[in-house]
Amino acid sequence: MLRVAVLVSGGGTNLQAILDAVADGTIQGAEVVKVISNNTNAYALTRARNAGIPAECVTRKMYPVPEEFDRALLATIQSSSADLVVLAGCLVVMPQLIVDAYPNRIINIHPALIPSFCGQGYYGLKVHEKVLERGVRVTGATVHFVDGGTDTGPILLQKAVEVREGDTPEILQRRVMEEAEWKLLPRAISLIAAGRVQVKDGRAYIR
Ligand code: GRF
Repeated sequence: MLRVAVLVSGGGTNLQAILDAVADGTIQGAEVVKVISNNTNAYALTRARNAGIPAECVTRKMYPVPEEFDRALLATIQSSSADLVVLAGCLVVMPQLIVDAYPNRIINIHPALIPSFCGQGYYGLKVHEKVLERGVRVTGATVHFVDGGTDTGPILLQKAVEVREGDTPEILQRRVMEEAEWKLLPRAISLIAAGRVQVKDGRAYIR
């Protein structure tokens, strides 16, 4: 059984998609063993509690010294004995300390088709604002492995989503969540739990 720790920062709709997929059998062979938030007000924590999943907060307020925050976050992940770390709407850029401790065992969902609209400063609604500003016809979401950079690790899954006339950032964000994010993350966890994913020479392969 693949033990999964989910890191969150906000509403937790991606966490909810994972929990629902475990509950309805879409995800086989994996269980969410801990939810960790860097935001004490994250509604994701309520979703964890409602699902009976242990949740903990590690915030910069608790650990103002960056190195101490990094160590506390690593210790909290390690205490869950997780095999896989899933960043689900997590706004913390993973410190190298954690990336090194979990090589090719951290995945992230980004609300765009990497390498478009990603990197420093591209998160949340901002991504969709930039998509609309540029006038692209297609956007989407990406699940990738986390390496030392921001949205730079090996791509595992992507799904395209149509941009429509009259879309606002909020409408587009919702469509990307519904049509892509909430499908891709459970599928990625399923594939990894089934041992069907291999990362080699910076590329992710699905067998
Ligand atoms: C959303 O912008 C989503 O696209 C991105 O993180 C933000 C919050 O997601 N992945 P969630 O509802 O907290 O999962």
